[in-house]
Amino acid sequence: MSWIDASTKLYGVLGKNIFYTLSPAIHNYIFREISYNAVYLAFDVSEDKFDIIGRALIELCEGFNITIPYKERIMGFLYSLDRSAEVVGAVNTVYRGRGYNTDYLALLSILKRYSNVLRGSICYIYGAGGASKASAVALYEYGCEVHIVNRSLERAQHMAHYLSRYGIDIHIDSDCSKKRDVIVNATPNPSIVPDKCLDGVSLVIEFVYNPIETSLIKRAKTRGVEFIDGLKILIKQALEAQRIWLGIDFPEEKVLEYLYARKLIR
Ligand SMILES: NC(=O)c1ccc[n+]([C@@H]2O[C@H](COP(=O)([O-])OP(=O)(O)OC[C@H]3O[C@@H](n4cnc5c(N)ncnc54)[C@H](OP(=O)(O)O)[C@@H]3O)[C@@H](O)[C@H]2O)c1
Repeated sequence: MSWIDASTKLYGVLGKNIFYTLSPAIHNYIFREISYNAVYLAFDVSEDKFDIIGRALIELCEGFNITIPYKERIMGFLYSLDRSAEVVGAVNTVYRGRGYNTDYLALLSILKRYSNVLRGSICYIYGAGGASKASAVALYEYGCEVHIVNRSLERAQHMAHYLSRYGIDIHIDSDCSKKRDVIVNATPNPSIVPDKCLDGVSLVIEFVYNPIETSLIKRAKTRGVEFIDGLKILIKQALEAQRIWLGIDFPEEKVLEYLYARKLIR
């Protein structure tokens, strides 16, 4: 797309304090590559303006993403929910008024190659927010025993209660007390995972992507543990959104190359 005209389609990401977001760079790059007349913007919206702008974007945008802190609040305004959004209880992608959760869809896709390792394995997830729920559901569906460790017990209990409605049983712990195979950091703080919890682990999943090599990824590398970094999840969830919006399967490597070439990631 080299110009904006009356038929240009509108996409974007709705969140608060989202100056850091890479989503406009990723999606505008894809739109250009496939010669699609569309533009993707960042809508940085304060909480008092959320209701009016959230509703307006559902009508105005062909599709959009939602990020912290509005992934749950948007749900009440949507016309329908995909199973991915219903079971996770959070929406990060909207297409024509329908809500989806592409963090969960991205994890399902990324974890496919680990399916044999995951079956029957014990997994500890740090955090009890949207990213935690997306990973708990995906890991449970791959046959893991899921344990949650969260700063606030109440939020972990709320998460367990919510997921139990969908037949997903999770355990709440204060520490990684059992032998474990998989560790997930779904908090903004990778150092929350104690060193001892990495002993004997075969896979580490990190949601934080700024920087890409977080302290958790560094520790996984030092120990020779396989890992999935936050950038992989970020790119995959964006590609899942493109699949929902346009039905395309855009190559992950091209997005990665573009972000490095533009020095948008380090
Ligand atoms: N790579 C990706 O594509 C991707 C996708 C989604 C999210 N993320 C990242 O993943 C992280 C979590 O996102 P989210 O959407 O799940 O957020 P969220 O819904 O706000 O949940 C955050 C969770 O982290 C815990 N937490 C927050 N600050 C903490 C701290 N300093 N120490 C320990 N625990 C802390 C919270 O605990 P309390 O309940 O006690 O407050 C809560 O359980 C964010 O950094 C986000 O940017 C990345």
